[in-house]
Amino acid sequence: MATRLAAVLVAVAFCWAAVPAADALGMNWGTQAFHPLPPKVVVQLLQDNGIKKVKLFETEFGTMSALAGSGIEVMVAIPNNMLADLAGSSRAARDWVKRNVERYDFDGGVSIKYVAVGNEPFLEAYNGSFIHTTFPALENVQNALNDAGVGDRIKATVPLNADVYNSPPGNPVPSAGRFRADIAGIMTDIVKFLAKNNAPFTVNIYPFLSLYLNDNFPLDYAFFDGGATPVNDNGVLYTNVFDANFDTLVAALKSVGHGEMPVVVGEVGWPTDGDKHAKSSYAERFYAGLLRRLAASTGTPARPNQAIEMYLFGLLDEDAKSVAPGSFERHWGIFRYDGQPKFAMDLTGQGRNAMLVPAKGVKYLSRTWCGLNPNAKDMSKLGANIDYACSRADCTALGYGSTCNGMDTAGNATYAFNAYYQVQSQEDSACDFNGLALPTTTDPSTATCNFTIQIVTGKAAAFKGRSGVAVVFLALLQILALW
Ligand SMILES: *[C@@H]1O[C@H](CO)[C@@H](O)[C@H](O)[C@H]1NC(C)=O
Ligand SMILES: *[C@@H]1O[C@H](CO)[C@@H](O)[C@H](O)[C@H]1NC(C)=O
Ligand SMILES: *[C@@H]1O[C@H](CO)[C@@H](O)[C@H](O)[C@H]1NC(C)=O
Repeated sequence: MATRLAAVLVAVAFCWAAVPAADALGMNWGTQAFHPLPPKVVVQLLQDNGIKKVKLFETEFGTMSALAGSGIEVMVAIPNNMLADLAGSSRAARDWVKRNVERYDFDGGVSIKYVAVGNEPFLEAYNGSFIHTTFPALENVQNALNDAGVGDRIKATVPLNADVYNSPPGNPVPSAGRFRADIAGIMTDIVKFLAKNNAPFTVNIYPFLSLYLNDNFPLDYAFFDGGATPVNDNGVLYTNVFDANFDTLVAALKSVGHGEMPVVVGEVGWPTDGDKHAKSSYAERFYAGLLRRLAASTGTPARPNQAIEMYLFGLLDEDAKSVAPGSFERHWGIFRYDGQPKFAMDLTGQGRNAMLVPAKGVKYLSRTWCGLNPNAKDMSKLGANIDYACSRADCTALGYGSTCNGMDTAGNATYAFNAYYQVQSQEDSACDFNGLALPTTTDPSTATCNFTIQIVTGKAAAFKGRSGVAVVFLALLQILALW
């Protein structure tokens, strides 16, 4: 009896370990890294931090296998380059659903809740490439889910950038929100179709980008501390751009007859490097405010006292992402590339000075760096070699406003050579650069600038997982907890 009671207490303690801000909190898990963490390590990381929802950018077997049996709710995804195929053929959509949803949809499999059809397909940067394929692809995918008999619990949705709606320049208040004129017809069709299927509208909202794109943007308006001069919308006061942006969408939905449609925030977050505003202290401040509101189910002025389902962007840094939007693009993680937390963050939204639980079982390459050879004679090709290294590795930390900015030429060269050497898994041949480089066991890192050692990827890094005994033990604890 005493033993059983003790086991129950242990089980209860397990449940209390980490309770995120309501059950509304999810994470975006992108994998565009040169040495991505093994999927099983990432799933353990999610579980250790009490995260119960995850949003993906593709539907990859290794990721899905690691998620199987975890109980984590998943938004699987269809990349933009597949939209044309799925738009053109309901058969292609049925095949996709069979291979990427039905295959994992069983007891003990993956708990799929949404299918993301495309990712921000109407971004102006895409020049309209996906304007005509997104809606038909959405229709075909949801219809395929319905035909497969899972449409009542698995919903197709399109994660859209907040640039699909706006307020007129003459009346820049949230209540005047409308869908962007060039896509208003398609947006109306999409909203009506989502409503018919009881699916949510998904939007990505980035206060950081408001600041990045506009030097005159009031800094405090990007955060949730209430310090900004309010925007007055017919007597409703807005003190942060997140609320204003969200409510602009609510008004746009209302204008097409669906003001009550559920809205999921598909991405929201703050990067920590690559721009003067991308820094850990701001990220910490932004998330603290966001999570406090999420935990309190504050809602927004247009939808007060409502919990907003939201997915933070992102879980991990991705050093192989395109930097077309800006150098900050590779630094969105609340964890570094290796699953180490970057700053204090309390997912329960209680504002405690807590650190997230770091990733377990991560294997690093040896403590060897690649640096500028102090005895190199001919420096004429140094610039070309640095450029080569940086075109095949991530050097964004060197730029203006970034953590490694302001070093001398030798520092820059060492940073670039090392980044490349690590991406190449410390191959000897990757630390030569025409005799300009040499491996070293002395860490060149400074107080502000990390010269990183990459992690081991591939089979060697396969996470051992829990032993069979531990699994049985945990199952036993769960049974006892019910008893
Ligand atoms: C969009 O158009 C611009 C200017 O014409 C061009 O530079 C860019 O590469 C195009 N982007 C895509 C995704 O087609
Ligand atoms: C180091 O690299 C950065 C980023 O490319 C550049 O802005 C800076 O001028 C370089 N510093 C020197 C001393 O070359
Ligand atoms: C460098 O990496 C270490 C180890 O993860 C971390 O503790 C530290 O905060 C990092 N420093 C910077 C400036 O990013």
